[in-house]
Amino acid sequence: MQSDLKRVLYGEAEIAARLDQLAAQITADYSGKELTVLAILNGSLIFMADLLRRIPLPLQLDCLRVKSYYGGTISTGRVQFDPAALPLVHGRHVLLLDDILDSGNTLAAIIEAIRLEGKPLSLKSCVLLRKTKKRSLSIGADYVGFDIADEFVVGYGLDYQERYRNLPLIGVLKT
Ligand code: IMP
Ligand code: MG
Repeated sequence: MQSDLKRVLYGEAEIAARLDQLAAQITADYSGKELTVLAILNGSLIFMADLLRRIPLPLQLDCLRVKSYYGGTISTGRVQFDPAALPLVHGRHVLLLDDILDSGNTLAAIIEAIRLEGKPLSLKSCVLLRKTKKRSLSIGADYVGFDIADEFVVGYGLDYQERYRNLPLIGVLKT
């Protein structure tokens, strides 16, 4: 798999070190509160497992399976999930976890669905990666692991046509 990469962006040690910082920040920010974490699958699966084990707070974990459709490596903007599968958010501190903020379509759609479902006490989002680009949607993330260039990346949960999720590092695919 690694021979399909043009370049490694972040190796295992770098990811682990950044997760330590991110988890410390989240733990401090939510100290004394109880979190509801909503992980967006499949992409955030590995990030979620490694991040949450570094956060010693009482929390509830829910997962939402979301499909974003791609024409090759470009987002088509179509996002699909089952709104009935959303957790109860009313009166909760909700933290969304996703692998990457690209166009922002996925987070925007989920945030809108959550707002229809109930009134959370707070609603923030955390992404492992954020692409540096102009987004037509004014959607941001409250916690970001790494800012990266606008290139298609795989590994550490991120896929290309469902492959490479199990690579322990993050890299740019050969085109
Ligand atoms: P957005 O809705 O365009 O922000 O993209 C969100 C989803 O698209 C992510 O959760 C990923 O599953 C996928 N995605 C966006 N960019 C990449 C990438 O560079 N590599 C792999 N998946 C990506
Ligand atoms: Mg994907």
